[in-house]
Amino acid sequence: MIKLPTTPSMRLDNRRAFVTGASRGIGLGAAVALAEAGAYVVLAARSSAELAQVVDAIRARGGACEAVEVDVTDVGRVTQIIENYAAFDILVNNAGTNRPGPMHEMTLEDFDAVMNLNVRAAYFVAKAVVKKMQLKGRGGSIINTSSQMGHVGGIDRTIYSASKHAIEGLTRALAIELGKDKIRVNTICPTFIRTPMTEKTFANPALVEWIHSKIKLGRIGEIEDVMGAFVFLASDAAAMMTGSSLMIDGGWTAG
Ligand SMILES: NC(=O)c1ccc[n+]([C@@H]2O[C@H](COP(=O)([O-])OP(=O)(O)OC[C@H]3O[C@@H](n4cnc5c(N)ncnc54)[C@H](OP(=O)(O)O)[C@@H]3O)[C@@H](O)[C@H]2O)c1
Repeated sequence: MIKLPTTPSMRLDNRRAFVTGASRGIGLGAAVALAEAGAYVVLAARSSAELAQVVDAIRARGGACEAVEVDVTDVGRVTQIIENYAAFDILVNNAGTNRPGPMHEMTLEDFDAVMNLNVRAAYFVAKAVVKKMQLKGRGGSIINTSSQMGHVGGIDRTIYSASKHAIEGLTRALAIELGKDKIRVNTICPTFIRTPMTEKTFANPALVEWIHSKIKLGRIGEIEDVMGAFVFLASDAAAMMTGSSLMIDGGWTAG
């Protein structure tokens, strides 16, 4: 009998994950998926009431998790919180925001709000998690929730697109830096997904028409469309992937 290769496991038992922006939307989907794959998940966001509901629901399905209330833009506080936890094996840097609009309407406050959360907070959360991953010495997986807008531009998305292109650059540079520690760093790049963040966009018929004209699969994305990608990138099945971007864009960036 010939010796067949073994498909690497996508189970995440005995791994610890930290997921930011886990109280709703894509981060909630990531937390659920990682917990179902066996990881112990720490869910972070600002709203403790929303987090508590998610934690209860994950536990009811048999997952192991806890919540931590934190504003990740408070770099000192979130660093201290991560410092107080045992090392994580998986980080999902997902908390993010958008202030869509034409450039002439954008303010310094809009720019700083998007950049502070989407780039600055993601950078320093990764820094804190990586420090303990390196000390533990068993590698890890960092998954940054980027966007298709990290690869192309979009209507009313100058600041957002700049922030997601920044995350793509951070991911590649960090992948180079952390390869020696077997810490993999990748992005997930969704198209428009139905979440609280995109409610206003989907209420605008002109934007919906634009979105449908770009998504080759002919529909808007749902949270379920991104969940498996988090498990894959966190798992041994993606052991040779680092510095990569996983497009979940229904073909938007294909042309
Ligand atoms: N939805 C899409 O179409 C889409 C497409 C591509 C990429 N993305 C990216 O996916 C990520 C999640 O988007 P989403 O649509 O799921 O957004 P969402 O529905 O608005 O959820 C955002 C999450 O981030 C948390 N959050 C916001 N500010 C925070 C802060 N300062 N500190 C800690 N947590 C904070 C929110 O909880 P609290 O408000 O309670 O803190 C919430 O859990 C973002 O990075 C976004 O750019 C989204």
